[in-house]
Amino acid sequence: MEEREPTLSIGDNNLELPMVPALQGYSGIDVSTLRGSQGVVTYDPGFANTASAQSAITYVDGAAGTLTHRGYAIEELANSCSFLEVAYLLLFGNLPNKMELEQWQDSMKRHSLLNEELKRFFNAFPKRAHPMAILSSATNAISTFYEEYHDPHDEDAIVESAQRLLAKMPTIAAWSYKKSTGFPYIYPQNNLTYVENFLHMMFALPTEEYHVDPVITKALNVLLILHADHGQNCSTATVRFVGSSQANLFASVAAGMNALWGPLHGGANQKVIEMLSDIVNDPTATTESYIARAKDKNDSFRLMGFGHRVYTNYDPRARILKKFADDVLDRVKGDDPLLKVAEELEQAALSDEYFASRNLYPNVDFYSGIIFRALGFPIRMFTVLFAIGRLPGWIANWKEMNEDPATRIARPRQVYIGETSRQFVPLHQR
Ligand code: SDX
Repeated sequence: MEEREPTLSIGDNNLELPMVPALQGYSGIDVSTLRGSQGVVTYDPGFANTASAQSAITYVDGAAGTLTHRGYAIEELANSCSFLEVAYLLLFGNLPNKMELEQWQDSMKRHSLLNEELKRFFNAFPKRAHPMAILSSATNAISTFYEEYHDPHDEDAIVESAQRLLAKMPTIAAWSYKKSTGFPYIYPQNNLTYVENFLHMMFALPTEEYHVDPVITKALNVLLILHADHGQNCSTATVRFVGSSQANLFASVAAGMNALWGPLHGGANQKVIEMLSDIVNDPTATTESYIARAKDKNDSFRLMGFGHRVYTNYDPRARILKKFADDVLDRVKGDDPLLKVAEELEQAALSDEYFASRNLYPNVDFYSGIIFRALGFPIRMFTVLFAIGRLPGWIANWKEMNEDPATRIARPRQVYIGETSRQFVPLHQR
């Protein structure tokens, strides 16, 4: 449908604003001439109504509850691909053929080792350090070994730094966990696949054989795919923001990791398990009491794993994970009381007017933690797992931004509401 050019009327002034047409979803109104011609700026806290970029990577249809990556439905990718295939798709725009995938898998194996000098870096953290703090610090630290690949406009350098980040992230993540256990770091093995290697580095001990369970490998592949990318979410927008100053990929991704760590974003998966455990372990806590707290405006508590800025329908990833949780628990761990409480909580919320009227549904974080737990991961590693999954999405967005001729350094305006001119009073008179 041909979109009309909108006109903005301010007083007697009428400003024709060009449209930026979308192939799916909302088209954009280009307001780049607004400040210069009308002396005003737009105001949109949290950017809920503001597009920061044109992108061809991922489309999230919030009303329909659908998610596609480069045009492929998430359900198809989760069912039929490996995580590395989806990472390739996000970065290069097409699914790899057999040869391309083999070369991609091989490059991940060849770059999975960390420089031995980094061991001191991990040992410098206290035992109780949260692995997300280690992950973002180590991501910045490895950039010091690859300064020749920092140029954001050198295509080969972008691929080289992307490969090193993707290849080394499982090693960094596993070592950030191992350091908290006091057990020795386990090195990557080139005879293992990407996910098998990560599981081996996480859970193997040098004293005995460790056999990677194919059920866990398959489950983790699906979980990482479901976290791979999601439009201009807080952490991806952060990666773009930092990268817009032409900061290198490592620095931009480290910033995105820190944004992801927040409990309103990727940190929610850890908070969901803490919430469900409270209900299971505290006889005074019930699903009803938690629903009441979530609705109480005087209580800062939020129903973690519920609600979404874009989805006004069920998050398709939560739908896949909910079904998946039953399978994984049956195969790996057996019953988990947390799953039963999660399903009760979901039912209670979805039948409650407060949640229904605000279109609050379970999001990706509501069920993911239950599966991560069933797979044997400690709760403080959950957001690290989210980061490993989201890494290709961050890199693809950073790459797309640097290839976009319209990219400028991100520098929003403000609506100033502070003091105007004040008389200075020297210290001895204050
Ligand atoms: C992720 O953007 C992405 O794509 C993110 C993500 C990705 O893949 O990158 O999908 C991953 O971060 C998922 C979200 C994980 N976070 C949580 O589960 C934390 C709990 N959820 C909320 O804090 C909230 O829903 C957000 C942060 C997810 C969305 O916040 P918004 O869009 O700013 O919504 P809002 O805070 O303005 O809420 C609108 C209304 C408010 O009530 P009213 O002011 O209208 O009375 O809904 C209420 C909120 O109080 N509300 C909730 C709620 N979420 C929203 N009330 C209780 N519990 C909740 N979880």
